[in-house]
Amino acid sequence: MTAALMAETGLNEAILTALVHRFYDKVRADPVLGPIFAARITDWEPHLARMVEFWGSVALMTGCYHGSPVARHADLPVTWAHFERWLVLFRATADQVCPPAGAAHVITRAERIARSLYFAIEDAARDPDVVPDLNRSHGMSQIDLSKDDT
Ligand code: HEM
Repeated sequence: MTAALMAETGLNEAILTALVHRFYDKVRADPVLGPIFAARITDWEPHLARMVEFWGSVALMTGCYHGSPVARHADLPVTWAHFERWLVLFRATADQVCPPAGAAHVITRAERIARSLYFAIEDAARDPDVVPDLNRSHGMSQIDLSKDDT
């Protein structure tokens, strides 16, 4: 599966590593998003390594990432406008770093996951004691990295 996705998208670990590093360089320099990340992340190396694993799992089905993205975002002070900004920076980086098919592949997935995370944050704001199960509450499978629905 991973080999087929690599052939189809032109993506590989080196490209995903460059994507993650360049993207978070932009995020950290961004006047709106930078301070939100700076308030939560002091040691960037483990975060960047985790994000390379995340994108390997999302884009190439490597299965390397094991984490809880929903819980990590549930209490962030963000609106949909922050996610739009995140996506603007992500699309620009993907277009710079990835071959065209690979850029389209990661951008589609980022857009879907951004929507799910946003719904999760909204749900958590309504009921702070519950971190929602996205698959159940929205019928979405984006956070289930074992599925590839394209
Ligand atoms: C407004 C937009 C976003 C903000 C401000 C944001 C912020 C953050 C922060 C601060 C962390 C570190 C949390 C911690 O370790 O305490 C984090 C982790 C993470 N973010 Fe985001 N994020 C955003 C959007 C996204 C999107 C769209 C994706 C996926 C496409 C994503 C994927 C992840 C993942 C996988 C982690 C690591 C979770 C873990 O620890 O396993 N984020 N994010």
